Amino acid sequence: MTGPAAVLTGIGGYVPPNLVTNEDFARRLDTSDAWIRSRTGIARRHVIEPGTATSDLAVEAGTRALKSAGDDRADALVLATTTPDQPCPATAPQVASRLGLGRIAAFDVSAVCSGFLYGLATATGLIAARVAERVLLVAADAFTTIIDPEDRTTAVIFADGAGAVVLRAGAVDEPGAVGPLVLGSDGELSHLIEVPGGGSRQRSTGLPPRPGDQYFRMLGRDTYRHAVERMTAVSGEAVERAGWRPAEVDRFAAHQANARILDSVGERLGVPAERRLSNIERVGNTGAASLPLLLAQSAAEGRLAAGQRVLLTAFGGGLSWGAGTLVWPSVEAL
Ligand code: UT7
Repeated sequence: MTGPAAVLTGIGGYVPPNLVTNEDFARRLDTSDAWIRSRTGIARRHVIEPGTATSDLAVEAGTRALKSAGDDRADALVLATTTPDQPCPATAPQVASRLGLGRIAAFDVSAVCSGFLYGLATATGLIAARVAERVLLVAADAFTTIIDPEDRTTAVIFADGAGAVVLRAGAVDEPGAVGPLVLGSDGELSHLIEVPGGGSRQRSTGLPPRPGDQYFRMLGRDTYRHAVERMTAVSGEAVERAGWRPAEVDRFAAHQANARILDSVGERLGVPAERRLSNIERVGNTGAASLPLLLAQSAAEGRLAAGQRVLLTAFGGGLSWGAGTLVWPSVEAL
C-alpha cells in the first residue's frame, strides 16, 4: 500500500427508542419467545416509528461518530444501506447536508449485511488514493421497512439501527489503522436473500410487482450454512494477511445474524466464547448497521478496549462477505 492508511478515530451507534419483544410477536404470529431465543438468540429489538427513514437513523449515528472523533469535519461520506430513503437518488448526500458537512463527496454502498465492511474498503480506498483525508462511514438500515410483518421466518429476526465511524489518514502501524480487508461475493446464490420486486427486472415488465414481491425473503437454512462457511474462511484469511495467529485475536466482532452462527464460526476459528462480542439479544439483526453498532456498544460498555486486536467479519445478501482486522484505538464510543 503506497497511500496513507485509514485510522478509526471516532465511533457512534444509534437504535430507535421503540422496543419490540418476542412476546409482542408471539401475540400476533405463530411463534414463541422460546423458539426465537433458542433458534436465534434474540430477545428484543428496536424498530422505527412510521415516517422514520434510514437517513434519520444515519444522521443520529453520524452525529455521535463525529462527536466521538472530536472534529465535525469530513471530506467524504459513505453510507452503507440496504434500505435507501428512495430508489433514486442515493441517501448519502442528504445525510451529509443534514450533518452540516457541506458539498462533500457522498454516495451509497449496497452490500446488504456486508455493507459496513464493503464501506470500510471504499473509505480506506478514498484515503489511500488521497481523494479524502477524513471519511465518515455510516451503516444504517431501516430493515423493518422491507420485512413482511406476517412472515415469522424474517419478522422476528430483522430490526432497525445505525452505526458510524470516522476514519482519517494516518500510518499503518497506528492503533485504529484498518488492516488488510478481504471481500467476496457469489451472485449464483443471490436468490437466497432477495427482495424480488421494485427493481428494473420487475419494472421493465410494465406490470406491478406480484403480491409479496416488495418484501425481503431469505432461505434461512441454506443461508445459515453459507454464513458459517464463508465467515469462517474469510476470517481465517484476514487474520493470516494481518500476520496474526488466531489465538492472538482478543475480540471477535461478527455480523449479528444469529447467535448459533456466531458460536459456530467462533468455535471453528478457535476464538473462545469470552472473546466474542455480541449484542444480538437486544438489537436483533440490523443489517448493514450490525457491525458498527456492535463495536460502538461494546466499546461504550467496556467490553472492547484500546490495544485489543479485533477481528471483524460479515456475511449477507449477494451473497457477499468480508473480514478485516484492526487494533482498537483509544476512542470514546458514543
Ligand atoms: O443477515 C444476513 C445473513 N442471515 C443469516 O445468516 C441468517 C441465517 N439463517 C438463520 O439464522 C436461521 O436459518 C433462521 C433463524 C432464519 C431459522 O432457523 P432454523 O433453525 O434454520 O429454522 P428452519 O428454517 O430450519 O425452520 C425450522 C422450523 C420450520 O418448521 P418445520 O418446517 O420444521 O415445521 C419453520 O417453519 O421452524 C419454523 N419456524 C418458526 N417457528 C416458530 C421458522 N420461523 C419460526 C418462528 N417461530 N419465528
